[in-house]
Amino acid sequence: MSGKQTAYQKCINPKCGAEFATTESMFKCPTCGDLLDIKYNWENINVPKKLSDFRKRWSTRNNRLDFSGVWRFRELLNFCPDENKISIGEGQTLLERNDNLASFLGVDAGNLFLQYEGLNPSGSFKDNGMTAAFSHADMVGAKSCACASTGNTSAAVAVYANHCGLKCTVFIGSGRIAFGKLSQAMDYGAKTIQILGDFDDCMKQVQDVCTNMGLYLLNSLNPFRLEGQKTIMYRIIEGLGWEVPDWIIVPGGNLGNSSAFGKAFAELKQLGLIEKIPRLAIINASGADTLTDLVNNKSLRWNDGHIDTAIIDDYYAELTAKNYSPHTCASAIEISRPVNLKKCLRAIDVCDGIVTSVTDSEITDAKALIGRYGLGCEPASAATIAGLKNLLASSEIKPGEKIACVLTGHCLKDPDVTVNYHKDLQGSYSNAPVECENDLDKIIKLMSQC
Ligand code: F0G
Repeated sequence: MSGKQTAYQKCINPKCGAEFATTESMFKCPTCGDLLDIKYNWENINVPKKLSDFRKRWSTRNNRLDFSGVWRFRELLNFCPDENKISIGEGQTLLERNDNLASFLGVDAGNLFLQYEGLNPSGSFKDNGMTAAFSHADMVGAKSCACASTGNTSAAVAVYANHCGLKCTVFIGSGRIAFGKLSQAMDYGAKTIQILGDFDDCMKQVQDVCTNMGLYLLNSLNPFRLEGQKTIMYRIIEGLGWEVPDWIIVPGGNLGNSSAFGKAFAELKQLGLIEKIPRLAIINASGADTLTDLVNNKSLRWNDGHIDTAIIDDYYAELTAKNYSPHTCASAIEISRPVNLKKCLRAIDVCDGIVTSVTDSEITDAKALIGRYGLGCEPASAATIAGLKNLLASSEIKPGEKIACVLTGHCLKDPDVTVNYHKDLQGSYSNAPVECENDLDKIIKLMSQC
């Protein structure tokens, strides 16, 4: 779709390739049912000549769009007018160089970085996507919205919906959500519906509900959300002095992040703003490892968009026949039918990516290490360090390479997992509280033994 507009929607399936204006609202291609992408007519956009040109926005941070860690890169996600852009100050996140953790893992000093997305207003990376999707919702005049969630999406949707005055319903799997996240959805005033099922069941229901009731869908099926999530990569590059790292490591759940990151790098390369595309390592939990299984064991590939969908269909039919439901302590990524699977395959292709999975005990040990040496994070985020440890051991990643791990959610999102790990001495780094009588001598005696 050429012409004067800056952006349009396009089906990712090369056999379809249908195009739609950004003023339309849908979460799947109405022609063939495949995923939609946001495409740009770059010739109509005044893209900075080099990435470091974005630095000038730091001096105009009293402008709310320059303050936002998403919208200060707005030329790279130019799909809506400024007056529709919603912001609650998302993206004030930190790329922390962490030599202590690097040294523990055997990575060379100065090479390990933690991108802490827990610093977002709702405590997870989701706010990067929500600011973009809610801006689009505003652009199309949406009044009510909904999402399915393992927790963080519901918290982020609830806070943005409240900010914009949209009615909001969130669907969660009963008993499948960390309490920090559930408390946020309720506190921000979302109508919270607990389905007697898992996330995949909720994801299926919410699509039908949105179609039937004309609600605006805020899961990462929504292509505008992924545009916002691209900016996590821009901030990593910014944090590295406008250089790209050798590796990006990210947990894989519904695969929105990995898809967005691949798109970000493909576009930056196309625009001549970077020379090298980093490699992407996507880490599943072993109790929810559809991507690992499909890519590593069933050889599923992007194949220029001509994906062998029979492999996916057979795999899902098998899951259904087994009545399979995923299980991991990293409840955020407890997903067995990731909706962005195809876009993620494209990202793996673009970034020469790899996929692996880690056990729950590897995740909780890694989480304790991040807590001890870094900023802390929730279990799903710790899959990155658990994966890195294994990839260093197999020499897939080398100690001399520059590595950025995306810590997707705040350490207080899921206190139950943390407290149980330490209190019940579940892992190698458990640090249980010690009881002592209310007596000074006994306290001093105990402390001198520590
Ligand atoms: N990390 C955290 C903390 C998450 O909340 C999620 C996803 C992921 C990683 C996985 O990211 O889907 O882009 O691969 N949480 C969603 C939710 C599914 O509903 O909150 P992804």
